[in-house]
Amino acid sequence: MKIEDCHNVDDLRRAARARAHRMVFDYIDGAADDEVAIRNNNHSFRAFEIVHKVLTGAEQVDLSTTLLGHRLKVPFFLAPSAGNRLFHKDGERAVAAAAAKVGTIYSLSTLSTVSIEEIAALTSTPKFFQLYVWKDRGLVREMLARAREAGYAAMILTVDMPIAGNRERDKHNRFTIPPKITLRQIWDALRAPRWTLDYFTSPPITYANYAARTKATSLARFFEEQLHAGFGWRDAEWLLGEWNGTSVLKGVVSPADAVRAAATGFNGIMLSNHGGRQLDASPAPITMLGPIRDRIGNDAELIVDGGIRRCSDIIKAMALGANAVSFARPYLYGLAAAGQQGVERALDLFVTGLKRDMVLTGASSIAALDESFIRYKA
Ligand SMILES: Cc1cc2nc3c(=O)[nH]c(=O)nc-3n(C[C@H](O)[C@H](O)[C@H](O)COP(=O)(O)O)c2cc1C
Repeated sequence: MKIEDCHNVDDLRRAARARAHRMVFDYIDGAADDEVAIRNNNHSFRAFEIVHKVLTGAEQVDLSTTLLGHRLKVPFFLAPSAGNRLFHKDGERAVAAAAAKVGTIYSLSTLSTVSIEEIAALTSTPKFFQLYVWKDRGLVREMLARAREAGYAAMILTVDMPIAGNRERDKHNRFTIPPKITLRQIWDALRAPRWTLDYFTSPPITYANYAARTKATSLARFFEEQLHAGFGWRDAEWLLGEWNGTSVLKGVVSPADAVRAAATGFNGIMLSNHGGRQLDASPAPITMLGPIRDRIGNDAELIVDGGIRRCSDIIKAMALGANAVSFARPYLYGLAAAGQQGVERALDLFVTGLKRDMVLTGASSIAALDESFIRYKA
């Protein structure tokens, strides 16, 4: 499938499935247990309708948004995702470059396959750095110091992964980064020749930020060694003191947690269930936006993360009070399908579609969106 023939996220998903090795596609596409949460993330948007307004004269649309002091050209930014060079040889480089082109923020995963420093130097647009809660405080300090030194504008602390979720597709595929070569994987590699050629002609895939610090060879082993389920609010306070800059807490769905996050000093909160990859029974982030906004008022900025597939999803979240939205799979499908060109296609579909849907909504700017545009279908 040609990338120009992809007209929505589902098309990009099909193109990614056609090009990538099966275990790679499943790692991107899959989620925990029965994959209920990932389906809900998206379907929950359908519970909200946009009550469009007519004769508003909205013709030229202003999509710009301010998030944590940064002016973005669009109301979305790119959520962090691990291991991008496994999906396409250009990995995080391709994604960061595409984000800069549309004028939005790129967030780099702590488990990236291109280093903090290289991505920082690649573009001049603002970037966020994502961190998990590692047991080794020295490692945490080192990561924060490198991100600060490299000029990352904010730190995102992801807390919905105290341990790894139960991703059964990865288990069936015996998925690891770097991949272990089994007979089944050789068979799948033959069915994805373009991915396989890239893989064998590119430098080895490693967690670029940890290569010197850890001997861990597999994602599972690295998590086992370093994820710190005992990390609590007091540790989060310690971490904020170490970072001493703009901070975002990612993985919140409970209003009480949001109140505590704001009181602890986080400037932003990402309402997220990790794209359904962790607790399969967790609620869709969009359904928690109203209750969380009601509880915290303007004490922190809110980002809705999870299930954004259509431009109308973005309009709904912004009208319901989000400061921005984010997503990973839409751009990862593009990356796996066609590298930077595929990521650009994904982002362009959102930009073009947003302009169209905003005119259809009758709103000339993102700032003009409010709850009067929304009806909840009980
Ligand atoms: C392949 C993949 C890798 C991810 N890696 C990370 C990560 O390293 N750190 C993190 O905080 N979230 C990670 N996420 C979660 C995303 O940041 C985001 O919360 C989620 O993808 C949102 O769901 P959506 O992309 O389906 O809309 C990952 C998601 C995917 C699909």
